[in-house]
This record gives sequence, structure tokens and C-alpha cells, in this order.
Amino acid sequence: MADKMWAGRFSKEVDETVNAFNSSIAFDGRMYRQDITGSIAHAGMLGKCGIISMEDSRSIIDGLKGILADLDSGALEFDMTAEDIHMFIEAELTKRLGDVGKRLHTSRSRNDQVALDIRLYLRDEIKEIRALVLELCNTLIKLAKKHLDTVMPGYTHLQRAQPITFAHHLMAYVWMLIRDCGRLDDTLKRMNECPLGSCALAGTTYNIDRHMTAEELGFYKPMENSLDGVSDRDSCVELACAISLIMTHLSRFSEEIIMWCSWEFKFIELDDAYATGSSIMPQKKNPDVTELIRGKTGRVNGDLFTLLSMLKGLPLAYNKDMQEDKEAIFDAVDNVKLCLKTFIPMTATMTVNKEKMRKAAAGGFINATDCADYLVKKGMPFRDAYKITGTLVALCIEKGVDLETLPLEDYKAHSELFTEDVFRAISLDTCVGERRSFGGPAPDRVREQIENAEKILIQLGENK
Ligand code: ARG
Repeated sequence: MADKMWAGRFSKEVDETVNAFNSSIAFDGRMYRQDITGSIAHAGMLGKCGIISMEDSRSIIDGLKGILADLDSGALEFDMTAEDIHMFIEAELTKRLGDVGKRLHTSRSRNDQVALDIRLYLRDEIKEIRALVLELCNTLIKLAKKHLDTVMPGYTHLQRAQPITFAHHLMAYVWMLIRDCGRLDDTLKRMNECPLGSCALAGTTYNIDRHMTAEELGFYKPMENSLDGVSDRDSCVELACAISLIMTHLSRFSEEIIMWCSWEFKFIELDDAYATGSSIMPQKKNPDVTELIRGKTGRVNGDLFTLLSMLKGLPLAYNKDMQEDKEAIFDAVDNVKLCLKTFIPMTATMTVNKEKMRKAAAGGFINATDCADYLVKKGMPFRDAYKITGTLVALCIEKGVDLETLPLEDYKAHSELFTEDVFRAISLDTCVGERRSFGGPAPDRVREQIENAEKILIQLGENK
């Protein structure tokens, strides 16, 4: 086992159990690239500011690049007994360069180092998640364009409520996902300030240039307060929250797909490549993917809660509790990417059963509001119209008919305002086609919102 870098103060070796307990390399090893990138910027700044010689600065940078190349190629493997990725890389550098390597950590602490690494790492992840969210929006829009006239029931309380179209339903998710993308952008904006140079907590007596490293690492400014620089994990919380909402949206959609695949609905059928069978029941075709997404949403919400609970009692500045941030946020990031990568092709390949959707929309008195509105348009106050329509629905149920098939005499018996044209007014196509209010399901309106969404998606795609 490598000697501890902080060994000077101690008279004994650390207990092996403690060593293993303390070590984070098993999960922070994935930040090796970011750790090296940050160290390269730091070493460059130390040289330019005259804190170490330019010659040492160059050797350190070359040494770090060599380590990066060897880690990338697999020529160098992590020492799993190292305390963390930061210690491992620094020890490796010193192994390769001798005393020069020991100069890297001048005016720096692992506290600002880890705060930097996690931001660099998550910055890249946000871009990937964002691209997937946009890809899903485009996939749903493509599908929506094919279903502008596909009438389906809209539900409240999972009871048939009013008719909508499948395109209208899909676009509801597109707007949620567009907001999700906005949340990722906001998170990135606040995350994109550089903690490097905060050092352990109180800055440093060396004449460092934090603006230089911030700029080199692509941050738009250094963080203003060194205590905040090393203590902040709200950017992780914010990202976890944005991810939880993406998962929540995927989960609600998944729940609907699960229902729509059932024999009771049969609104859609998943492609065989995105469904699974049962080990005992030969007839089964199960929507496991969507169930897993629904299940993983709970887990990702747990990650958010882990981060919030980890932070809530911590005095400033760094506390080792903060090492727990990584497994939680990495788990959230990994899982949302996995879910999006599966959900996108699954929705792109599912078959939509238009007839089933329409048939479901034709039942359940889904046009009752339109029947009431018909009377209102002929001058009756809405509350009276509502009551009469309710009585008519009860009558239909008694007679075993629909509003479409109830004889005109029955209508007339309840109000003289009813004439033959009531049947046109309550036909499914009228009910959908006339819902032309802004944001409504009428095909023209949905076409309009698709155009608006597409414009926004182009802008979002350009601001990568
Ligand atoms: N592995 C540590 C973490 O992830 C790095 C920072 C350690 N700092 C310290 N003062 N022990 O939080």
C-alpha cells in the first residue's frame, strides 16, 4: 500500500478497515479525466504566476498528460487502495517525476479539487442528458405529426372526460421535456463558476490567478467566496432535482404506456424489440422497459433525497459527508441516460391502434360537455344546460344508448332548444375539431403548437 501523503502527523498506519471505508476511488475514479484537466490548468497557472518555475510547470503538465494517455489506453490501472482519485493521480505523478511532482499541490486542497472535478464532470453529463431530452422531443413530434387526427379519450381521474387527439397528448410531454431542458440549462449556468483556488477553505497567501484557471477551464468566472467554493453542493442537488423531474415525466408517460398496452386498452403495441415475455405464460408480452423506468424514478428521487439530507446539517466548510454526493449524483445521471436511451427508440417504434383509441373516445359520454355547450350556444345558462345534459346521460344509461343514438324526441322532451343539428354538434369529430382555443386539441391548433415547439427546439439545439 502506498504511503499516505498526509502521513507526517501520524505515528501509526491507518486501520485497514478504515482505509477501505474512507476510500472513494471505486466511485470517483470515473472523474480521472476531469481531475487531470483541472491539475493541468492549475499547474499552468502556478508557472505563469511564478509560484513554481515554468520548467516545473511544463514537466508537471507533460507528466499529467502521460498519465491521462496511460489511463485512457489501459496501460495504467487505478490503485484501489488509494484514498481517492486525486491522491492516486498525484502519487502517480510523483512516482513518475520525483520531487517536481510534489509541487503540484501548492496552493490547492482536495477540497477545491473535488469541487472542481465534480463540476467539470457534471457539466459534460448535463450536455449529454440535454441532447437526449431534445432527441426525445423530436421523436415525439415526429409521431405527433402522424396523429393530428387520431382521436382518443382525454381522461381526468382516469375516467373518460373529453376527446383529444394522440398528437395533443404527445405534445403535452414535449412541453414538459422542453421545460426539463430549460432546468438543465439553468443548472449548468449556476454550476459554471469555478471553485478552484478556494483551496482548503480560506484561499491562499500565494499570488494565484483564479480568473486565469476559471477561463482556461471554460467557466465564466471564479466563485466569489472561498468558503462557498468548497462547501457548495447545491449544484448537485439542483441537477438531481432536474433529473428527478425528467424521470417523473418519463415515469408518468411509462405508466400510460403500460395501461395502453394492456388488453383492456390496446391503444398501442410495443415493438417486439422493446418488450419481454414471461417465463411461464406463453401469451405474455410485457412492457418491462416502462415498468423499469417507473421503478427507477423512485430510486433517482432517492438520490435527490440523499443529497439534500447529506447537506442539511453540515457546518461550513468541507466535511467528509460530502464524499457521499458522488454515488448519489452519478447514479441519477447514469440512470436518466439509460432510461432516455431506451425510451426514445421504444416510442419511435411502437404501433398506434387508431381504431381502438377512437372507439374508446366514442363511448363513455365523452361528448356530454359538448351537448351542454350546444344548449349554451342557443342561449341557455351553462348551469341549466349542465343539469339537463346530466339528466339525458342518466336516461341514455337507463335505455342502454349513447347521446349519439338517443332519439331527438327524448332531447326535445327536456328542452325545446334541441333540434336535429344536435347530432352534428356532439359528433366526435366536431368535439375535437371545434376545440380551437389556444393550446386545445383541434388539429390546426396542435399543428400550430408543433411549429412553436420546433422553433424552440431549434434554438435549444443551437445553444449547446
Ligand atoms: N474524496 C474526497 C471527497 O470526495 C475528496 C476531498 C477530501 N478532502 C478532505 N479534506 N479529506 O469528498
